[in-house]
Amino acid sequence: MAQQEDVFKKLVSHSKEYGFVFQSSEIYDGLSAVYDYGQNGVELKNNIKKYWWDSMVLLHENVVGIDSAIFMHPTIWKASGHVDAFNDPLIDNKDSKKRYRADVLIEDQMAKFDDKINKEVEKAAKRFGESFDEEQFRATNGRVLEYQAKKEELHTRFAKALNDSNLEDLRQIILDYEIVCPISGTKNWTEVRQFNLMFSTEMGSTAEGAMKVYLRPETAQGIFVNYLNVQKTGRMKIPFGIAQIGKAFRNEIVARQFIFRMREFEQMEMQFFVRPGEELEWFAKWKDTRLKWHKALGLGEKKYRFHDHDKLAHYANAATDIEFEMPFGFKEVEGIHSRTNFDLSSHEQYSGKKLQYFDPETKESYVPYVIETSIGVDRMFLSVMAAAYTEEQLENGETRVVLKLPAALAPVKVAVMPLTKKDGMPDKARQIIDDLKFDFKCQYDEKDSIGKRYRRQDAIGTPFCVTVDHQTLTDNTVTIRFRDTMTQERVAIDQLRGIIADQVSLRNLLKKITE
Ligand code: GAP
Repeated sequence: MAQQEDVFKKLVSHSKEYGFVFQSSEIYDGLSAVYDYGQNGVELKNNIKKYWWDSMVLLHENVVGIDSAIFMHPTIWKASGHVDAFNDPLIDNKDSKKRYRADVLIEDQMAKFDDKINKEVEKAAKRFGESFDEEQFRATNGRVLEYQAKKEELHTRFAKALNDSNLEDLRQIILDYEIVCPISGTKNWTEVRQFNLMFSTEMGSTAEGAMKVYLRPETAQGIFVNYLNVQKTGRMKIPFGIAQIGKAFRNEIVARQFIFRMREFEQMEMQFFVRPGEELEWFAKWKDTRLKWHKALGLGEKKYRFHDHDKLAHYANAATDIEFEMPFGFKEVEGIHSRTNFDLSSHEQYSGKKLQYFDPETKESYVPYVIETSIGVDRMFLSVMAAAYTEEQLENGETRVVLKLPAALAPVKVAVMPLTKKDGMPDKARQIIDDLKFDFKCQYDEKDSIGKRYRRQDAIGTPFCVTVDHQTLTDNTVTIRFRDTMTQERVAIDQLRGIIADQVSLRNLLKKITE
């Protein structure tokens, strides 16, 4: 675990050092849980967004996109339930004066039981060597079973307290399990209180005329309130979906773990409108499609798992998370929710406008049911970076830091380097870039030894380095070096575009989803 935390720290500093992610307002000592994306970060982020967008609107004839405003009529948030119920249970430690989410403290406690179990398994694996049967050990070992039972007992109590929104019980669990503040080490806790996560501001110029508006905490509501506009103008027939990428804002109580939990972040959401009664079938289909989207990136099959919600929101009849194994454990990256007709019905009620759909096949009018897929761009970015960050021991004893990013997502696709600054090699390298730049993000680099230049490109995940040398000047061939294997091949300049395009195109990823 300590080793993993170490990796995470390295990843955070690597992200800064190589222009991926900066702390917001850094020269003013930063703004907590707000981050800026640098020159490489923005390219990676845009590529992730494009991969998601194309997977929605290109691969599905019946999914279209919109881009709705961040500000919306405040009654929308009343209708959606956010004004009354978008709360987190918070608790303060009286000694450290630090504030925590009560549910997160309890979840961390559950993770401790998992850690203990894993330690027992590791110890036994060492002891028994080759003959170790992990499955059998987990099913029969006394200590493992004891920890498992304790975890399940805690889980049952926790799920009940959450479902009943029972704040006193949440506090009692914290006391009974002797959960201490990580800073002060004491159990001197306040009561648990609800805290609304929405940011608000005023719209309008005069004090009397000003209206309280919210910064949207999810992009989904912009889709709901536009659903009929899109359905009518696009002549959409149910089932159909609307996709959107945009900023969302939440005044998170606990803002740790870098870009995992931010106060300003970006979501990629798709609402899929279906006939009532068919929602669970579509829920299963979207679960499958979204997992394929993740797995097509090749970050590791075992790094994903579904986690069904313990507490279903009052409007949902099924919900699951896709979790990814981050350096700090399996964490939610995406939520897939069957939201029934709650949002649309509620908007009908609050707005007084009909939001029904006339189904030409069944000749019935109804408020559609909705399946939602909702993924955080920043969390996706973090999972890609975490999986890509690699430290390799080379034969010469050096360590190579390389981001093994999926080529289609890499910020820079190709670096072109003259071996030396003489004999017209820089001009030749520039000519190559002048051709490739219409298709790919290229970088020119002539500074330092070729080895150092390769390392710089490895550190930002550039899949290809092209070197112009003496031979290039006579036969128009170059060497192309592959990031992951570090092997080099000699190829004709006019082959470059084809070789690179084949590897970096989103097409390959998109095809894998449909296989
Ligand atoms: N419309 C449904 C919705 O917003 P959610 O589970 O609250 O559902 C969806 O959020 C996704 O948005 C999460 O799976 C996560 O990836 C991302 N997300 C939520 N809060 C976030 C935060 N504070 N910082 C970064 N990403 C966040």
